[in-house]
Amino acid sequence: MIDLHCHLMPGVDDGAASLDISIQMLNDAAKLDISAVCVTPHYSDVIGSAYERRFRWLVKQTASQPIRLLRGMEYRYSDLITLDKFVTLGDSSYVLVDFVAPAIDLSNVEKKVMELESDGYKMVAAHPERIFDTKDIPALQRLAKCGVVMQLNAGSFLGMHGVEVKEMAELMLSHGLCHVVASDSHGKPTRQLFIDKAINYFNANYDKDVVKILFHENSRLIIDDEPPHVMIPTIAHRSFRLIRRMFASV
Ligand SMILES: [Fe+2]
Repeated sequence: MIDLHCHLMPGVDDGAASLDISIQMLNDAAKLDISAVCVTPHYSDVIGSAYERRFRWLVKQTASQPIRLLRGMEYRYSDLITLDKFVTLGDSSYVLVDFVAPAIDLSNVEKKVMELESDGYKMVAAHPERIFDTKDIPALQRLAKCGVVMQLNAGSFLGMHGVEVKEMAELMLSHGLCHVVASDSHGKPTRQLFIDKAINYFNANYDKDVVKILFHENSRLIIDDEPPHVMIPTIAHRSFRLIRRMFASV
């Protein structure tokens, strides 16, 4: 299993505060059968220029850990306007993009996706369930048709970001708008990996194929620079069916 979104690099953003915490995060990940982690700090001018050096340092410092570190970065949508080169997920073509509040006008994003594509990049939307709401489902569907990959957070399905985010995560899943689940761990008690708890949640509420695709296969496809599978769960928990009925007109 590959975790595509993790704030593992110490002391550069609001993620791991020290190398000790980074190592603890890797220890936790190893227990969850995670074999590789993308090191995705929030982009800033400072980390933008220092990323490669710090990444190589972190690889050396954690060499005894059984987990492979892969490159990555979490960009704000506005960074796509000002930058023309990006650190991609595992050296693939995929760029991790946080749309960040205030919400972006999604009707403009399709043009940006095509511009990125002409420069050799593809877009992964970081935790869109935390940013957008039910009225945005049609626009998110158009983006997905353009090739934007939707990465939802494990904690969102567990209610770690509130009930509304959890409902949006489940709604996106029901519309085939959840391609991959990642931790977005920050090495803090409220922002841990939560991958094991999310897998338990999915196994209890959905067909087993859901875990296979969302946690295993699609993260591997992205790192291999392939499009992920699109998956709509066929076996649903009663409360999930209720939510789906509530928004059937969306
Ligand atoms: Fe993040």
